Amino acid sequence: ETIYVGVDLGGTAIKVGICDEQGQLLNTYEGPTETEKGTETIIDNIVKYVHLIVEQSTYTWEQVGGVGAGLAGFMDLKEGIILHSPNLPFRNVPIRAILSERLGKPVRVDNDANVAALGEAWSGAGQGVANCVCYTLGTGVGGGIIIDGKIYQGFSGVAGELGHMAVIPDLEAIQCGCGKMGCLETVSSATGIIRMAKDAVQRGDRTSLSTLEHMMAKDVFDAAKAGDEVAARIVNRAAFYLGKAMSAVAMVLNPERFIIGGGVSKAGDILFDEIRNVFYKLTPDSLQKGIEIVPATLGNDAGMIGAAGLFRS
Ligand code: BGC
Ligand code: NA
Ligand code: ZN
Repeated sequence: ETIYVGVDLGGTAIKVGICDEQGQLLNTYEGPTETEKGTETIIDNIVKYVHLIVEQSTYTWEQVGGVGAGLAGFMDLKEGIILHSPNLPFRNVPIRAILSERLGKPVRVDNDANVAALGEAWSGAGQGVANCVCYTLGTGVGGGIIIDGKIYQGFSGVAGELGHMAVIPDLEAIQCGCGKMGCLETVSSATGIIRMAKDAVQRGDRTSLSTLEHMMAKDVFDAAKAGDEVAARIVNRAAFYLGKAMSAVAMVLNPERFIIGGGVSKAGDILFDEIRNVFYKLTPDSLQKGIEIVPATLGNDAGMIGAAGLFRS
């Protein structure tokens, strides 16, 4: 029996999972990315966790048919290179070659949000539709475009970098990790939400938010749910620009479904209600007809399933 290991490299954690040939996730392990220690340590961690998960399982290393990895950053998919990672230190790293040399196994790589979209399309919220667009709201904002059941890569591989659409008006724009101003990611990611909350506290806005050191996006959502108006405004802002960006994407692609995942999507209705409001308000009737906006259903597993699944096609 052959198994495949799926790796989901995010800004905070590296998740690895073993999948069987049917794409069923059998076993998972999660460890810290250790972003602050630099590229070499991150790669060492990937290699370490891949070995660990296989050792912890009932399978042998010989049974590993390949390792698929979803990586957070702009990818040259032909060459298997991470060109630039807005939230990780990778710059022009030939990651596919490095990993296959270090692991001694066939390695396939793609963008983390692309593989999450693929996972959702196969066994999550995208089942039954041929065309969908997936957003992941976490450390960054990722995007994955599925057309006719396949990831749409564009000409060099960076199609679907939906977090870097410059939708924030100039006067409100701040610089993104990609180097440009006004990206969606600066307001709709967990990082952006926390930054807006810290700014509000520092400005002296009347809010129940105060824990400056360890604030999490969830704290902001909880405060908003409890009636904190400053927190509610931040949540609405994150949702507004996402809904606006989605409206533009709908006009280009006419997807049947938008799927929204990542840690931030766990906020639930408070986020989704506003995203839907904005999306349906801005998008011409005939162009929004039948389009659904739904939460992802695979949670943390989508990336691992999609990454291991790079060996399925
Ligand atoms: C990166 C994407 C990635 C997303 C989520 C963004 O900043 O540009 O490549 O998919 O974060 O990790
Ligand atoms: Na992507
Ligand atoms: Zn950007």
